[in-house]
Formats: sequence, structure tokens, C-alpha cells
Amino acid sequence: MDPERAAADRVISSVAVIGAGTLGAQIAAMCAASGRDVRLFDIVPGASDNALGRLRSLLEPVIARGALDWDLDAVLARIVPAATLGAAVARADLVIEAIREHLPAKREIFSTISVMNATALLATNSSSIPSSALADVVVDPTRLVNLHFFSEFWDRAAVELMGCGATSDETMRKMADFGRSLGLFTAVVRGESKGFIINRVWRAVKREALAVVDGGHADPEDVDRLWALFWGIGYGPFGMMDQVGLDVVADIEDSYIAVSSDPTDHPSPALHALVDAGKLGEKSGEGFYRYPDPAYRTPGWPRAGSPSETPPL
Ligand SMILES: NC(=O)c1ccc[n+]([C@@H]2O[C@H](COP(=O)([O-])OP(=O)(O)OC[C@H]3O[C@@H](n4cnc5c(N)ncnc54)[C@H](O)[C@@H]3O)[C@@H](O)[C@H]2O)c1
Repeated sequence: MDPERAAADRVISSVAVIGAGTLGAQIAAMCAASGRDVRLFDIVPGASDNALGRLRSLLEPVIARGALDWDLDAVLARIVPAATLGAAVARADLVIEAIREHLPAKREIFSTISVMNATALLATNSSSIPSSALADVVVDPTRLVNLHFFSEFWDRAAVELMGCGATSDETMRKMADFGRSLGLFTAVVRGESKGFIINRVWRAVKREALAVVDGGHADPEDVDRLWALFWGIGYGPFGMMDQVGLDVVADIEDSYIAVSSDPTDHPSPALHALVDAGKLGEKSGEGFYRYPDPAYRTPGWPRAGSPSETPPL
């Protein structure tokens, strides 16, 4: 068998994760838990070692409540901090990039990695950058994909897979198998979709929820009460936006609006008024709700408690 074909057929047994932040650490843990050897690299010295400590405190309670059936020591032992990018990617079958959301930085990383390891599969965990924006800097874009994981994978056991336009069927099949091997529902995006699948659907929910409030038709809490009762879940879109962070939500909304062809798609006054006032949601103590005890976390909500004031007819 020729070496290229042998490389294409290689099983993914060794993974390099680049970026040891919130998502990089969790991706490394999932890969290690699936029995793979993981090399973790971060540009900040010591960040990969810190990530191992963070993972321990994050995952111990999750394992204690039975949400994961892991031997944590064995999982963490399979994650090896790498001193250099080269050491991380040299023998990897798959490189997963999870550095900050900055296109020039990601392009630089991918151009470097694809020369350092000419046969590895390459994936970006970016939330908003399509892999097509990285395809021209890699040696072989047939091996390049978006692989979009979710934070707190034990509760959100899914990943979205999207090609770069030049990705081979073989790579898509291998990456879909890889996602499933992590125990994740692996959703394959056909073609290119801004926001992949769930973030695009979530964007439509946010936009309409904000439009209802901006139009004066309902208060945020009443939208959330209806949503929660209708779908049988514990909070609605405004509670969710507060948890994400309203500054982050506003940035994401702006990125959709910038490429929207819909003339009614414009920044939400209600959202921007809160951001301008420094009310960024849960992290700042106030957003659409007040924290640490927002209405949606009181027992019996959304049915009980004081409903929003009835507006004059
Ligand atoms: N946080 C989330 O919920 C979430 C969910 C899905 C996808 N993502 C995506 O994952 C990526 C990382 O997000 P995060 O929340 O983990 O960010 P983060 O800020 O927690 O971590 C990013 C890490 O990358 C490191 N880094 C930056 N530049 C680097 C470089 N050139 N080489 C190596 N390391 C570098 C930083 O030191 C930091 O430790 C982003 O693309 C983001 O869109 C995040």
C-alpha cells in the first residue's frame, strides 16, 4: 500500500489538542476517555498543566453525581502537556484546534501545523469560522473540517461536523466515526451553514424573542415562562442569553446581522441597552434577570410566583 493511502486508512489513536482553555481542556478529556493518547499544547506556558487541574475540579463532581462513569486518574494520565506545538502535533493522527476565536491566529496555526504533520486530519472547534476560511493555508484541505464541540459535554453530548468545501468523503466518514467514538451524537452539516445547525436555530429563537420584547409585545420573563411551559424545560431564551453573557450574545448577533440579507435584521435595542449599562447577565449580577437568584430558578417557576404586570389593553 502506498504511504498516502496507509496514512488515509490510519485509525485515530493519537490526538493533539491546541489551546488548553475551556473547550480545549474538555476536548482533551473526551479524547483521553475514549482511550486515545492526547498531547495538549497552549501558547501560554503552564496553561496545559493548569488545564489538568481545572479538569479534575470540574469533572470530580460530575463523576460523583453519576453523569460520567470515568476513572478520572486514568483519563488525566493520558493527557500529556506538550512544551512546543511541534512536539504536540508530530505524531498525531488528528489535530483539533481550540485556540481563541481570531481568524488570523487560526490561519497561522493551521499553516504551521499542516507543514509540521503532513498526514494528520485537521479540525477546528471554532464557533463561527467556517473551515473554508482556513482551507487555503493548509497543505491538503481534503483532510480539514469543522468539528464543533459543546461545553459541558456530559450534559450536551453532541458535536457538529462540517467540511471546508474540499474535504474528502473519506475524511468526513472518519471524523463522523471519531465523533461517535467519543460517545457524542455527531450531526453532519451538509454544505456550509453559518452557525452550523444548533447555533443557527438558536439565533432564530434569540432574534424573534428579542423582537417580541423590542416591539413591546411582552416582557422577557413572560416570553421565558411561555417557552418553559411549552417545551417543558427550566428556563427560556432570555435566561439562556443571561447565562451565555449578553456582551457575547450581542457580538454573535452582530456577526449574523453583518451578513444578513434581511432588512428587518438589526441590533436589538433591549439587548444593547443592557450591554451599554454593563448588565451582562449572570456574570455581572444582572441582565434580563437579577442574580444570584433569578426568577427562573425559584421553585415552581414558571407557573408560580408573581406573573409580570398585566399591561393595559
Ligand atoms: N467556550 C465555549 O463554550 C465554546 C463552545 C464551542 C466552541 N468554542 C470555540 O473553541 C475555541 C476556544 O474557545 P474557549 O472558550 O476554549 O477559549 P479560551 O479563551 O478559554 O481558551 C483559548 C486558549 O487558547 C490559547 N491560545 C491562544 N492563542 C494560541 C495559539 N496561537 N497557540 C496555542 N494556544 C493559543 C489561550 O492561551 C487559551 O488558553 C474558540 O474557537 C471558540 O469559538 C468555544
